[in-house]
Amino acid sequence: FAGGGAEFVKGVVAMSGLPDGDRLEVCFAGRSNVGKSSLINALTNRKGLARASNTPGRTQEINFFTLEETHYLVDLPGYGYANAPLPIVERWQRLLKQYLSGRQNLRRAFVLIDARHGAKAVDEEIMSLLDSSAVTFQCVMTKADKVKEADRERSIEATRKALARHPAAFPEIIMTSSEKGDGIETLRAVIASLE
Ligand code: GTP
Ligand code: MG
Repeated sequence: FAGGGAEFVKGVVAMSGLPDGDRLEVCFAGRSNVGKSSLINALTNRKGLARASNTPGRTQEINFFTLEETHYLVDLPGYGYANAPLPIVERWQRLLKQYLSGRQNLRRAFVLIDARHGAKAVDEEIMSLLDSSAVTFQCVMTKADKVKEADRERSIEATRKALARHPAAFPEIIMTSSEKGDGIETLRAVIASLE
């Protein structure tokens, strides 16, 4: 991908709103503030495309973006945001489960993990949900620019250990920085290679 041809399609709050599954699709899951929207912006070379903000829980819908003519990139609502009211959290979880288990054209989920903090209990939960939904997932470490070179490998190793428990995990872990561009080409190539 050149990273061009990216457009926002729609934000979805119910399964009935999903666009036709006529393109290959990948989704981005992760805790609030982990950098999902920023990563989509970096992948598409469009700074303001997916809203990125400092306010956790900002992305409350499943947002669909096109990448070239061939793919959907899907920005999932961030999880693990303690201050969101319970009914809202429950509604997200229901929608997320429905989406993950029912989307034929979904080829891979990227589970984003902050390179500074590593995988948390809520990340394990989403990985288990992906296992049970039979959606192959791949971990993407974010904010590499905030971690010292020497700590990056440690962070990847710790994540690799967590992956061993998950049958749906794809073994390769990608270290990224949306800010500096690390790993963005690699991730684009992975997406382009999915069939
Ligand atoms: P929600 O939509 O709330 O779930 O958050 P999100 O996962 O979409 O995170 P978002 O992309 O909005 O980023 C959260 C904050 O982290 C913003 O202030 C970003 O600027 C910052 N951020 C994201 N990626 C990076 C990165 O690679 N490096 C650095 N230094 N900051 C980043
Ligand atoms: Mg977001």
